[in-house]
Amino acid sequence: MGLKEEDLRKLPEDGIDPENPGKYRVLLEDLQGNILRGHGRDYSVHLFVEFKPDKTIEVKQWIEDFAKKYLKSAKQQSDEAVNYRQKRISGGLFTNFFLSCKGYEYLEIEPFLIPSDNPFRQGMKNEDIRAVLGDPKIDKWEPGFQQQIHGLILIADDDIIALLQGVNQMMQSLRKVANIVHREDGFILRNQAGQIVEHFGFVDGLSQPIFLKRDVVRSRVQDGGFSQWDSRASLDIILTPDPNGKTEDSYGSYLVYRKLEQNIKAFRKSQEELANALKVKEDLAGALVVGRFYDGTPVTLTDIPTFLHNPTNNFNYDEDLTATKCPFHAHVRKMNPRGDTGKVVSSPGFDEALAVERKHRIARRGVSYGTNNPIQEPEEGSGLLFMCFQADIENQFNFMQTRWANAGGFVQANVGPDPLIGQPEGTQKWPITWGQAKTLQHAFKLWVNMKGGEYFFAPSISFLQNI
Ligand code: HEM
Repeated sequence: MGLKEEDLRKLPEDGIDPENPGKYRVLLEDLQGNILRGHGRDYSVHLFVEFKPDKTIEVKQWIEDFAKKYLKSAKQQSDEAVNYRQKRISGGLFTNFFLSCKGYEYLEIEPFLIPSDNPFRQGMKNEDIRAVLGDPKIDKWEPGFQQQIHGLILIADDDIIALLQGVNQMMQSLRKVANIVHREDGFILRNQAGQIVEHFGFVDGLSQPIFLKRDVVRSRVQDGGFSQWDSRASLDIILTPDPNGKTEDSYGSYLVYRKLEQNIKAFRKSQEELANALKVKEDLAGALVVGRFYDGTPVTLTDIPTFLHNPTNNFNYDEDLTATKCPFHAHVRKMNPRGDTGKVVSSPGFDEALAVERKHRIARRGVSYGTNNPIQEPEEGSGLLFMCFQADIENQFNFMQTRWANAGGFVQANVGPDPLIGQPEGTQKWPITWGQAKTLQHAFKLWVNMKGGEYFFAPSISFLQNI
Protein backbone atom coordinates (compact mmCIF):
# COMPACT_ATOMS: atom_id res chain seq x y z
CA MET A 1 0.00 0.00 0.00
CA GLY A 2 1.31 3.46 -0.94
CA LEU A 3 1.76 6.42 1.39
CA LYS A 4 -1.08 8.87 1.75
CA GLU A 5 -0.56 12.62 1.48
CA GLU A 6 -0.97 12.96 5.23
CA ASP A 7 1.93 10.52 5.78
CA LEU A 8 4.20 13.10 4.18
CA ARG A 9 2.58 16.03 5.93
CA LYS A 10 2.63 14.47 9.36
CA LEU A 11 5.85 12.73 10.23
CA PRO A 12 6.32 10.69 13.38
CA GLU A 13 7.43 12.98 16.28
CA ASP A 14 10.83 11.34 16.16
CA GLY A 15 11.30 11.65 12.40
CA ILE A 16 11.73 8.67 10.09
CA ASP A 17 14.10 5.94 11.15
CA PRO A 18 15.78 4.50 8.03
CA GLU A 19 17.26 1.74 10.20
CA ASN A 20 13.69 0.63 10.91
CA PRO A 21 11.75 2.31 8.13
CA GLY A 22 8.31 0.64 8.41
CA LYS A 23 5.88 2.19 5.98
CA TYR A 24 8.56 4.50 4.53
CA ARG A 25 10.71 1.60 3.24
CA VAL A 26 9.75 1.84 -0.44
CA LEU A 27 10.10 5.61 -0.40
CA LEU A 28 13.58 5.47 1.13
CA GLU A 29 14.72 2.73 -1.27
CA ASP A 30 13.57 4.64 -4.35
CA LEU A 31 14.66 8.15 -3.31
CA GLN A 32 18.15 9.38 -4.20
CA GLY A 33 20.51 9.99 -1.29
CA ASN A 34 21.71 13.48 -0.22
CA ILE A 35 18.14 14.82 -0.14
CA LEU A 36 16.89 13.99 3.36
CA ARG A 37 20.41 14.33 4.74
CA GLY A 38 23.68 15.58 3.21
CA HIS A 39 26.00 12.83 1.87
CA GLY A 40 28.76 14.26 4.08
CA ARG A 41 31.73 13.46 1.77
CA ASP A 42 34.62 15.96 1.88
CA TYR A 43 35.21 16.27 -1.87
CA SER A 44 32.82 16.42 -4.79
CA VAL A 45 32.84 16.93 -8.55
CA HIS A 46 29.83 18.32 -10.43
CA LEU A 47 29.60 17.52 -14.16
CA PHE A 48 27.12 19.58 -16.20
CA VAL A 49 26.23 17.84 -19.43
CA GLU A 50 24.50 18.47 -22.71
CA PHE A 51 23.41 15.22 -24.39
CA LYS A 52 24.63 14.78 -27.97
CA PRO A 53 22.10 15.34 -30.78
CA ASP A 54 20.15 12.30 -32.00
CA LYS A 55 21.45 9.90 -29.39
CA THR A 56 18.34 9.57 -27.22
CA ILE A 57 18.50 5.76 -27.09
CA GLU A 58 22.21 5.71 -26.20
CA VAL A 59 21.73 8.42 -23.59
CA LYS A 60 18.88 6.47 -21.98
CA GLN A 61 21.06 3.38 -21.91
CA TRP A 62 23.89 5.36 -20.30
CA ILE A 63 21.56 6.74 -17.60
CA GLU A 64 20.14 3.29 -16.91
CA ASP A 65 23.63 1.75 -16.54
CA PHE A 66 24.81 4.63 -14.39
CA ALA A 67 21.75 4.41 -12.12
CA LYS A 68 22.18 0.64 -11.68
CA LYS A 69 25.90 0.84 -11.01
CA TYR A 70 26.37 4.01 -9.00
CA LEU A 71 23.22 5.66 -7.63
CA LYS A 72 22.62 5.34 -3.90
CA SER A 73 19.24 5.54 -2.27
CA ALA A 74 18.37 7.35 0.96
CA LYS A 75 18.16 3.90 2.59
CA GLN A 76 21.59 2.84 1.33
CA GLN A 77 23.10 6.15 2.44
CA SER A 78 21.76 5.54 5.91
CA ASP A 79 22.96 1.90 6.03
CA GLU A 80 26.42 3.06 5.00
CA ALA A 81 26.40 5.72 7.71
CA VAL A 82 25.68 3.01 10.30
CA ASN A 83 28.55 0.94 8.94
CA TYR A 84 30.83 3.92 9.18
CA ARG A 85 29.82 4.73 12.75
CA GLN A 86 30.11 1.14 13.96
CA LYS A 87 32.98 -0.30 11.93
CA ARG A 88 34.68 2.75 10.35
CA ILE A 89 33.96 1.29 6.92
CA SER A 90 33.65 4.17 4.49
CA GLY A 91 30.67 4.27 2.12
CA GLY A 92 33.03 5.15 -0.76
CA LEU A 93 31.86 6.87 -3.89
CA PHE A 94 28.52 8.68 -3.67
CA THR A 95 26.59 9.92 -6.71
CA ASN A 96 23.46 11.85 -7.66
CA PHE A 97 21.85 12.27 -11.07
CA PHE A 98 19.71 15.31 -11.84
CA LEU A 99 17.80 16.40 -14.95
CA SER A 100 16.87 19.91 -16.08
CA CYS A 101 13.59 20.52 -17.90
CA LYS A 102 15.54 20.65 -21.18
CA GLY A 103 16.99 17.26 -20.23
CA TYR A 104 13.49 15.75 -19.91
CA GLU A 105 12.55 17.26 -23.26
CA TYR A 106 15.66 15.78 -24.89
CA LEU A 107 14.70 12.37 -23.50
CA GLU A 108 11.31 12.75 -25.16
CA ILE A 109 9.39 12.41 -21.93
CA GLU A 110 5.73 13.34 -22.54
CA PRO A 111 5.13 16.95 -21.40
CA PHE A 112 2.55 15.90 -18.79
CA LEU A 113 5.17 13.60 -17.20
CA ILE A 114 7.83 16.33 -16.84
CA PRO A 115 7.91 17.64 -13.24
CA SER A 116 5.55 20.57 -13.31
CA ASP A 117 7.13 23.20 -11.04
CA ASN A 118 6.93 26.54 -12.82
CA PRO A 119 10.50 27.91 -12.39
CA PHE A 120 11.85 24.41 -13.18
CA ARG A 121 9.93 24.40 -16.48
CA GLN A 122 11.24 27.89 -17.32
CA GLY A 123 14.87 27.32 -16.34
CA MET A 124 17.21 29.72 -14.52
CA LYS A 125 18.23 31.46 -17.77
CA ASN A 126 14.64 32.59 -18.37
CA GLU A 127 14.43 36.42 -18.55
CA ASP A 128 11.53 36.71 -16.08
CA ILE A 129 13.20 34.42 -13.58
CA ARG A 130 16.47 36.31 -13.92
CA ALA A 131 14.68 39.62 -13.42
CA VAL A 132 12.80 38.50 -10.33
CA LEU A 133 15.89 36.94 -8.71
CA GLY A 134 17.98 40.03 -9.61
CA ASP A 135 20.57 37.84 -11.36
CA PRO A 136 23.26 39.20 -13.71
CA LYS A 137 22.77 39.02 -17.49
CA ILE A 138 23.57 35.60 -18.97
CA ASP A 139 26.63 36.94 -20.84
CA LYS A 140 28.15 37.73 -17.44
CA TRP A 141 27.75 34.09 -16.29
CA GLU A 142 30.67 31.71 -16.62
CA PRO A 143 30.76 30.34 -20.17
CA GLY A 144 29.90 26.77 -19.11
CA PHE A 145 26.69 27.89 -17.42
CA GLN A 146 25.70 29.85 -20.55
CA GLN A 147 25.46 26.54 -22.45
CA GLN A 148 22.43 24.30 -22.75
CA ILE A 149 22.44 22.07 -19.64
CA HIS A 150 20.49 18.80 -19.75
CA GLY A 151 21.78 17.09 -16.66
CA LEU A 152 24.05 17.29 -13.65
CA ILE A 153 26.06 14.41 -12.20
CA LEU A 154 27.36 14.83 -8.68
CA ILE A 155 30.17 12.50 -7.59
CA ALA A 156 31.61 12.65 -4.08
CA ASP A 157 34.08 10.82 -1.86
CA ASP A 158 36.24 11.39 1.22
CA ASP A 159 39.19 9.89 -0.65
CA ILE A 160 40.19 12.43 -3.28
CA ILE A 161 42.25 9.95 -5.35
CA ALA A 162 39.36 7.48 -5.52
CA LEU A 163 37.06 10.35 -6.43
CA LEU A 164 39.22 11.53 -9.33
CA GLN A 165 39.59 7.95 -10.60
CA GLY A 166 35.82 7.48 -10.46
CA VAL A 167 35.24 10.80 -12.23
CA ASN A 168 37.72 9.91 -15.00
CA GLN A 169 36.02 6.59 -15.58
CA MET A 170 32.60 8.19 -15.76
CA MET A 171 33.81 10.96 -18.07
CA GLN A 172 35.20 8.42 -20.52
CA SER A 173 31.88 6.65 -20.94
CA LEU A 174 29.89 9.88 -20.69
CA ARG A 175 31.75 11.53 -23.58
CA LYS A 176 30.24 8.99 -25.99
CA VAL A 177 26.76 10.37 -25.36
CA ALA A 178 27.21 13.88 -23.95
CA ASN A 179 29.38 16.98 -23.98
CA ILE A 180 30.60 17.95 -20.55
CA VAL A 181 29.89 21.67 -20.84
CA HIS A 182 31.03 22.60 -17.36
CA ARG A 183 32.69 21.13 -14.29
CA GLU A 184 32.90 22.30 -10.67
CA ASP A 185 35.13 20.84 -7.97
CA GLY A 186 33.80 21.38 -4.46
CA PHE A 187 35.01 20.58 -0.96
CA ILE A 188 34.08 21.01 2.67
CA LEU A 189 36.01 23.93 4.13
CA ARG A 190 36.86 23.68 7.82
CA ASN A 191 38.26 26.09 10.41
CA GLN A 192 41.06 25.19 12.82
CA ALA A 193 38.53 23.77 15.29
CA GLY A 194 37.36 21.36 12.57
CA GLN A 195 33.98 23.06 12.14
CA ILE A 196 32.49 23.49 8.67
CA VAL A 197 32.79 27.10 7.52
CA GLU A 198 32.09 29.13 4.41
CA HIS A 199 34.77 31.35 2.81
CA PHE A 200 34.04 34.53 4.81
CA GLY A 201 34.96 32.41 7.84
CA PHE A 202 31.55 31.83 9.50
CA VAL A 203 30.54 28.39 10.74
CA ASP A 204 27.97 27.02 8.28
CA GLY A 205 25.44 24.22 7.98
CA LEU A 206 24.14 24.69 11.54
CA SER A 207 20.49 25.20 10.90
CA GLN A 208 18.64 22.77 8.64
CA PRO A 209 15.16 21.31 8.54
CA ILE A 210 15.53 17.77 9.89
CA PHE A 211 13.59 14.68 8.83
CA LEU A 212 15.42 11.66 10.23
CA LYS A 213 15.26 10.10 13.68
CA ARG A 214 19.01 10.29 14.28
CA ASP A 215 18.99 14.06 13.66
CA VAL A 216 15.98 14.52 15.94
CA VAL A 217 17.64 12.56 18.73
CA ARG A 218 20.91 14.45 18.26
CA SER A 219 19.10 17.80 18.58
CA ARG A 220 17.37 16.59 21.74
CA VAL A 221 20.64 15.45 23.33
CA GLN A 222 22.92 18.28 22.18
CA ASP A 223 20.62 21.24 21.92
CA GLY A 224 17.93 20.83 24.55
CA GLY A 225 15.32 19.77 22.02
CA PHE A 226 12.92 22.08 20.25
CA SER A 227 11.56 24.38 22.97
CA GLN A 228 12.56 27.62 21.19
CA TRP A 229 12.76 26.44 17.59
CA ASP A 230 11.41 23.24 16.11
CA SER A 231 13.76 22.32 13.26
CA ARG A 232 11.81 19.14 12.47
CA ALA A 233 10.08 19.21 9.10
CA SER A 234 7.55 17.08 7.30
CA LEU A 235 8.51 15.35 4.07
CA ASP A 236 6.14 17.45 1.96
CA ILE A 237 8.48 20.47 2.16
CA ILE A 238 11.21 18.54 0.36
CA LEU A 239 9.62 15.70 -1.62
CA THR A 240 7.17 15.62 -4.47
CA PRO A 241 5.85 12.55 -6.32
CA ASP A 242 7.98 11.54 -9.31
CA PRO A 243 5.49 11.32 -12.21
CA ASN A 244 7.75 8.72 -13.86
CA GLY A 245 8.47 6.59 -10.79
CA LYS A 246 7.84 2.86 -11.02
CA THR A 247 6.72 2.24 -7.44
CA GLU A 248 3.72 3.49 -5.48
CA ASP A 249 6.05 5.59 -3.31
CA SER A 250 8.43 7.09 -5.88
CA TYR A 251 9.45 10.60 -4.93
CA GLY A 252 11.89 13.22 -6.12
CA SER A 253 12.99 16.69 -5.15
CA TYR A 254 13.83 19.95 -6.95
CA LEU A 255 17.44 21.10 -6.75
CA VAL A 256 18.44 24.76 -7.08
CA TYR A 257 22.10 25.08 -8.09
CA ARG A 258 23.91 28.45 -8.03
CA LYS A 259 27.58 29.25 -8.23
CA LEU A 260 28.09 32.16 -5.79
CA GLU A 261 31.52 33.75 -5.91
CA GLN A 262 32.67 35.41 -2.69
CA ASN A 263 35.08 38.36 -2.65
CA ILE A 264 36.70 37.54 0.66
CA LYS A 265 39.16 40.43 0.85
CA ALA A 266 36.51 43.06 0.10
CA PHE A 267 34.00 41.49 2.53
CA ARG A 268 36.53 41.64 5.37
CA LYS A 269 37.26 45.31 4.51
CA SER A 270 33.53 46.13 4.60
CA GLN A 271 33.20 44.30 7.90
CA GLU A 272 36.06 46.44 9.28
CA GLU A 273 34.45 49.63 7.96
CA LEU A 274 31.14 48.69 9.56
CA ALA A 275 32.90 48.00 12.88
CA ASN A 276 34.54 51.46 12.68
CA ALA A 277 31.26 53.18 11.81
CA LEU A 278 29.48 51.52 14.77
CA LYS A 279 32.56 51.69 17.04
CA VAL A 280 32.23 47.98 17.84
CA LYS A 281 34.57 44.99 17.48
CA GLU A 282 34.82 43.38 14.04
CA ASP A 283 33.39 40.10 15.29
CA LEU A 284 30.19 41.86 16.42
CA ALA A 285 30.00 43.75 13.10
CA GLY A 286 30.21 40.41 11.26
CA ALA A 287 27.51 38.95 13.50
CA LEU A 288 25.20 41.88 12.65
CA VAL A 289 25.65 40.98 8.96
CA VAL A 290 25.14 37.22 9.29
CA GLY A 291 23.00 36.98 12.45
CA ARG A 292 25.50 34.59 14.01
CA PHE A 293 29.11 35.26 15.12
CA TYR A 294 31.83 33.59 13.08
CA ASP A 295 31.81 30.78 15.68
CA GLY A 296 28.05 30.27 15.13
CA THR A 297 26.74 31.97 18.30
CA PRO A 298 23.39 33.67 17.50
CA VAL A 299 23.78 37.43 17.97
CA THR A 300 20.20 37.69 19.23
CA LEU A 301 21.37 35.88 22.40
CA THR A 302 24.64 37.67 23.19
CA ASP A 303 27.03 40.39 21.99
CA ILE A 304 30.11 38.15 22.27
CA PRO A 305 31.03 34.82 20.69
CA THR A 306 30.85 31.78 22.99
CA PHE A 307 33.20 29.39 21.13
CA LEU A 308 30.94 26.40 21.72
CA HIS A 309 31.79 23.51 19.41
CA ASN A 310 28.11 22.89 18.68
CA PRO A 311 26.40 26.28 18.52
CA THR A 312 22.70 26.22 19.34
CA ASN A 313 19.88 26.11 16.83
CA ASN A 314 17.23 26.05 19.55
CA PHE A 315 16.53 29.79 19.61
CA ASN A 316 14.09 32.35 18.26
CA TYR A 317 13.71 36.14 18.14
CA ASP A 318 10.91 36.49 20.73
CA GLU A 319 13.13 38.48 23.12
CA ASP A 320 14.25 40.70 20.26
CA LEU A 321 11.04 41.65 18.44
CA THR A 322 12.30 45.18 17.81
CA ALA A 323 15.54 43.74 16.33
CA THR A 324 17.95 45.73 18.48
CA LYS A 325 20.17 42.67 18.99
CA CYS A 326 19.87 40.82 15.68
CA PRO A 327 18.83 43.23 12.90
CA PHE A 328 15.96 42.15 10.67
CA HIS A 329 18.29 42.31 7.66
CA ALA A 330 20.78 39.79 9.12
CA HIS A 331 21.19 36.81 6.77
CA VAL A 332 19.94 34.08 9.11
CA ARG A 333 17.03 36.19 10.38
CA LYS A 334 15.84 36.91 6.84
CA MET A 335 16.41 33.31 5.70
CA ASN A 336 14.59 31.85 8.68
CA PRO A 337 12.54 34.42 10.62
CA ARG A 338 11.55 31.77 13.22
CA GLY A 339 8.03 33.18 13.59
CA ASP A 340 8.86 36.88 13.13
CA THR A 341 6.62 37.28 10.12
CA GLY A 342 3.55 36.57 12.23
CA LYS A 343 4.67 38.08 15.54
CA VAL A 344 6.06 41.54 14.97
CA VAL A 345 3.10 43.82 15.52
CA SER A 346 4.00 46.73 13.25
CA SER A 347 4.20 44.60 10.15
CA PRO A 348 1.14 45.13 7.98
CA GLY A 349 1.51 43.20 4.77
CA PHE A 350 4.39 41.08 6.04
CA ASP A 351 2.51 38.81 8.39
CA GLU A 352 2.28 35.09 7.84
CA ALA A 353 1.22 32.34 10.18
CA LEU A 354 4.17 30.36 11.53
CA ALA A 355 2.93 27.24 9.71
CA VAL A 356 3.01 29.11 6.38
CA GLU A 357 6.40 30.66 7.12
CA ARG A 358 7.86 27.23 7.92
CA LYS A 359 6.81 25.98 4.46
CA HIS A 360 9.47 28.22 2.86
CA ARG A 361 12.30 26.23 4.40
CA ILE A 362 14.92 24.56 2.18
CA ALA A 363 17.48 21.80 2.78
CA ARG A 364 20.90 23.34 2.03
CA ARG A 365 23.53 21.03 0.57
CA GLY A 366 26.13 23.54 -0.72
CA VAL A 367 29.92 23.10 -0.69
CA SER A 368 32.83 25.50 -1.10
CA TYR A 369 35.04 25.87 -4.17
CA GLY A 370 38.31 27.68 -4.88
CA THR A 371 41.09 28.11 -2.32
CA ASN A 372 41.11 25.86 0.72
CA ASN A 373 43.63 28.02 2.52
CA PRO A 374 41.70 30.14 5.04
CA ILE A 375 44.65 32.54 5.42
CA GLN A 376 44.40 33.65 1.78
CA GLU A 377 41.78 36.27 1.02
CA PRO A 378 41.10 35.95 -2.73
CA GLU A 379 38.94 38.53 -4.46
CA GLU A 380 37.77 36.06 -7.07
CA GLY A 381 37.79 32.34 -7.86
CA SER A 382 36.40 31.17 -4.50
CA GLY A 383 32.92 30.85 -3.11
CA LEU A 384 29.95 28.63 -2.52
CA LEU A 385 28.41 26.07 -4.86
CA PHE A 386 25.00 26.72 -3.39
CA MET A 387 22.59 23.80 -3.62
CA CYS A 388 19.23 23.33 -1.96
CA PHE A 389 16.41 20.79 -2.17
CA GLN A 390 12.71 21.58 -1.95
CA ALA A 391 9.27 20.50 -3.13
CA ASP A 392 8.24 23.85 -4.64
CA ILE A 393 10.87 26.24 -6.03
CA GLU A 394 8.51 29.21 -6.34
CA ASN A 395 7.46 29.00 -2.69
CA GLN A 396 10.86 28.05 -1.31
CA PHE A 397 14.17 29.17 -2.86
CA ASN A 398 12.66 31.80 -5.18
CA PHE A 399 10.45 33.17 -2.42
CA MET A 400 13.36 33.43 0.03
CA GLN A 401 15.68 35.10 -2.46
CA THR A 402 13.16 37.59 -3.84
CA ARG A 403 10.68 38.32 -1.05
CA TRP A 404 13.10 38.12 1.85
CA ALA A 405 16.79 38.46 0.82
CA ASN A 406 16.38 41.01 -1.99
CA ALA A 407 13.45 42.93 -0.51
CA GLY A 408 13.94 46.24 1.29
CA GLY A 409 10.81 45.57 3.34
CA PHE A 410 10.83 42.48 5.50
CA VAL A 411 8.66 42.18 8.62
CA GLN A 412 8.85 45.99 8.61
CA ALA A 413 9.33 48.61 5.90
CA ASN A 414 12.86 49.84 5.00
CA VAL A 415 14.81 47.03 6.61
CA GLY A 416 17.18 46.85 3.62
CA PRO A 417 18.42 43.83 1.65
CA ASP A 418 20.24 40.87 3.17
CA PRO A 419 23.84 42.20 3.21
CA LEU A 420 25.24 38.74 2.33
CA ILE A 421 23.10 37.79 -0.68
CA GLY A 422 20.45 40.48 -1.35
CA GLN A 423 20.45 41.58 -4.99
CA PRO A 424 20.83 44.52 -5.63
CA GLU A 425 22.72 45.91 -2.64
CA GLY A 426 21.20 48.67 -0.50
CA THR A 427 21.22 50.42 2.86
CA GLN A 428 20.45 48.74 6.17
CA LYS A 429 19.76 49.97 9.73
CA TRP A 430 22.43 48.83 12.21
CA PRO A 431 22.08 49.00 16.04
CA ILE A 432 24.76 51.40 17.34
CA THR A 433 24.76 49.66 20.72
CA TRP A 434 23.72 46.01 20.94
CA GLY A 435 20.28 45.80 22.56
CA GLN A 436 19.47 49.51 22.21
CA ALA A 437 17.11 51.17 19.80
CA LYS A 438 19.34 53.81 18.17
CA THR A 439 20.42 52.81 14.65
CA LEU A 440 22.84 53.96 11.99
CA GLN A 441 22.00 53.87 8.27
CA HIS A 442 24.89 52.21 6.48
CA ALA A 443 25.17 50.53 3.08
CA PHE A 444 26.97 47.20 3.29
CA LYS A 445 28.26 46.34 -0.19
CA LEU A 446 27.35 43.01 -1.77
CA TRP A 447 30.38 40.74 -2.08
CA VAL A 448 28.62 37.62 -3.37
CA ASN A 449 28.40 37.40 -7.14
CA MET A 450 26.16 34.93 -8.99
CA LYS A 451 28.16 33.19 -11.75
CA GLY A 452 25.51 30.87 -13.15
CA GLY A 453 23.20 28.01 -12.24
CA GLU A 454 20.16 25.94 -13.14
CA TYR A 455 17.05 24.29 -11.72
CA PHE A 456 17.06 20.48 -11.67
CA PHE A 457 14.91 17.57 -10.55
CA ALA A 458 16.27 14.55 -8.68
CA PRO A 459 14.17 11.72 -10.17
CA SER A 460 13.41 8.49 -8.36
CA ILE A 461 15.87 5.63 -8.83
CA SER A 462 13.24 3.32 -10.35
CA PHE A 463 12.63 5.83 -13.16
CA LEU A 464 16.33 6.20 -13.95
CA GLN A 465 16.95 2.44 -13.86
CA ASN A 466 14.13 1.82 -16.34
CA ILE A 467 14.21 4.99 -18.38
C1 HEM B 1 22.51 30.18 7.12
C2 HEM B 1 26.35 31.92 4.74
C3 HEM B 1 23.80 31.91 0.60
C4 HEM B 1 19.91 30.41 3.02
C5 HEM B 1 23.77 30.64 6.83
C6 HEM B 1 24.83 30.80 7.79
C7 HEM B 1 25.91 31.28 7.12
C8 HEM B 1 25.53 31.45 5.74
C9 HEM B 1 27.28 31.61 7.70
C10 HEM B 1 24.77 30.47 9.30
C11 HEM B 1 24.97 29.02 9.57
C12 HEM B 1 23.70 28.21 9.67
O1 HEM B 1 22.72 28.66 10.27
O2 HEM B 1 23.70 27.11 9.11
C13 HEM B 1 26.00 32.05 3.41
C14 HEM B 1 26.88 32.54 2.37
C15 HEM B 1 26.16 32.52 1.21
C16 HEM B 1 24.83 32.05 1.52
C17 HEM B 1 28.31 32.96 2.58
C18 HEM B 1 26.58 32.90 -0.18
C19 HEM B 1 27.82 32.83 -0.61
C20 HEM B 1 22.52 31.56 0.90
C21 HEM B 1 21.42 31.52 -0.03
C22 HEM B 1 20.32 31.11 0.65
C23 HEM B 1 20.73 30.87 2.02
C24 HEM B 1 21.52 31.86 -1.53
C25 HEM B 1 18.91 30.92 0.15
C26 HEM B 1 18.30 31.82 -0.59
C27 HEM B 1 20.30 30.17 4.32
C28 HEM B 1 19.44 29.58 5.32
C29 HEM B 1 20.18 29.53 6.51
C30 HEM B 1 21.49 30.07 6.20
C31 HEM B 1 18.01 29.07 5.12
C32 HEM B 1 19.70 29.00 7.86
C33 HEM B 1 19.02 30.09 8.64
C34 HEM B 1 18.43 29.57 9.93
O3 HEM B 1 17.73 28.56 9.88
O4 HEM B 1 18.65 30.18 10.98
N1 HEM B 1 24.20 31.05 5.60
N2 HEM B 1 24.77 31.78 2.86
N3 HEM B 1 22.06 31.16 2.14
N4 HEM B 1 21.52 30.45 4.88
FE1 HEM B 1 23.12 31.18 3.88
